[in-house]
Amino acid sequence: MSDQSNYNPSDDPINGLKPLSNGDGFSLPIASHDGLRSHDFSEAIMANGLPLEETDEDDDDEEVDEDYVAVDHDDLNEYPYWLRRPPVRQRSKLDDLYPFVQVLTESNVDDCVLVEEAFPEQERCSREKFIYRLGRCPELCLGLFTLPILSEDEPKPRPTLVGHIIATRTASPYVTDKAMELPADWQTNRSTMVDGEIVGHDETGRSIAIHSLAVLREHQGKHVGSTLMKAYIQRIREAAIADRIVIIAHDHLVPFYQSFGFENRGPSKCQFGGGGWTDLVLEFSAE
Ligand SMILES: CC(C)(COP(=O)(O)OP(=O)(O)OC[C@H]1O[C@@H](n2cnc3c(N)ncnc32)[C@H](O)[C@@H]1OP(=O)(O)O)[C@@H](O)C(=O)NCCC(=O)NCCS
Repeated sequence: MSDQSNYNPSDDPINGLKPLSNGDGFSLPIASHDGLRSHDFSEAIMANGLPLEETDEDDDDEEVDEDYVAVDHDDLNEYPYWLRRPPVRQRSKLDDLYPFVQVLTESNVDDCVLVEEAFPEQERCSREKFIYRLGRCPELCLGLFTLPILSEDEPKPRPTLVGHIIATRTASPYVTDKAMELPADWQTNRSTMVDGEIVGHDETGRSIAIHSLAVLREHQGKHVGSTLMKAYIQRIREAAIADRIVIIAHDHLVPFYQSFGFENRGPSKCQFGGGGWTDLVLEFSAE
């Protein structure tokens, strides 16, 4: 039978957990000399935690009982149970993908061609360009994959590429049309120069030019793009392999890139895909 007279709402479980201070078998230590049983103790103290009874005028000379543990009740009140319990976090759409990021290689060309369909046709990177870029500088190309959790007897599927970042190096402080081009002789020549500028990937360039950030249409709006971009920036920054990351974007995405620290440098000279781009730069050399 329950005793309603002893009911205390703070004893109620919260998310299946009982408040620590009311946990089974847990009671605050009490000085043995106060002669009180534990269930009497709450009635014998005032709100500020000082005992009403047996006030000892000779506090300074009092012999300290070894079992005595000083409890600052005010302090306890400052750290209520609500602040100490683990944070409750809603699963996000991104969590549901069980995402992981990994460097891309030539084995991912077909996956990238599929993800690139996120762009309007005239802005897409061709299959040949993917073979070139993933072959020349895979370390600058990052993918976010999803792999569903399966039971032990199910065969492990190939991870699905959900989003990618494809980049090459350039000596220019901005993305240029030449950096975006595919060198005509890329299959036979390591490096191609036209009008004094390297076409395509420039191995010695100190700028990393992102040519594509794209997310599969069905997975857009789940923070895949922003998570991938943050992971990419962190990798490049920590590896200290470049002075800056540069990208071109249409106006509506400028705030998206600014949120990662890119600076708006105004209209780009790039005419790729019909032009109308803005230059964005994330400088590491200034850090
Ligand atoms: C742009 C793109 C990469 C963004 O990836 P995503 O996973 O859909 O974006 P996220 O969910 O990470 O978005 C994060 C924030 O960016 C902003 N954002 C995303 N897409 C945007 C868009 N198309 N226009 C304006 N803002 C956008 C939103 O403010 C969003 O914040 P919110 O979720 O709090 O509203 C993706 O939509 C895409 O592949 N688009 C087509 C290809 C493209 O245009 N690439 C960019 C080349 S410069």
